[in-house]
Amino acid sequence: SFHLGRNIPGVRGLRPRAMTRAERLHFVPKRHTLPDHMVKKTRSNMPLLDAATRVRDRAYAPYSCFKVGAAIRSIEGNVHVGCNVENVAYPEGTCAEAGAIAAMIASGDTRIAEVCVIADSPEPVPPCGGCRQKIAEFAAQDVVVTLCTTDGKSKQMTVAALLPGVFTAAHMDRS
Ligand code: THU
Repeated sequence: SFHLGRNIPGVRGLRPRAMTRAERLHFVPKRHTLPDHMVKKTRSNMPLLDAATRVRDRAYAPYSCFKVGAAIRSIEGNVHVGCNVENVAYPEGTCAEAGAIAAMIASGDTRIAEVCVIADSPEPVPPCGGCRQKIAEFAAQDVVVTLCTTDGKSKQMTVAALLPGVFTAAHMDRS
């Protein structure tokens, strides 16, 4: 007899048989996307700073040794986190903000309501140019971005202030 794992019993066998109770309990239907109730979301009142601080610990930054954590609250009310993930091919590294945005979109949430970024820097580190554009893609102009240092300094900026003259879809209207 061959092993059917979590597949429907009998599908590859000669004769279908009923699932055992244990199989029914662990049965996961195959779908292309997970149903909403199976997507892990953190509906949380945990301040964004706590979330950003915790994920910063997980940053993979062996080249710069500069760990960054970012947390986003989506308009849907969930918290999404990201950290920088560097690469030996340096330009392939990704920023904490990009990771948090990817997590938000992957979860099915749509827009940024609030952002917090933390790093161990003398002054609150502002997002890089690329991340400003990435944040602007998913946030209204008045969304507040809080920039923090691990020793307690912080600075708040709106998305509009972070990226004046932002490139938008309207700039492509004539094409
Ligand atoms: N970094 C971020 O993750 N976010 C920022 O806002 C600034 C810079 C990362 C990228 C790189 O891994 C390291 O910090 C040094 O630039």
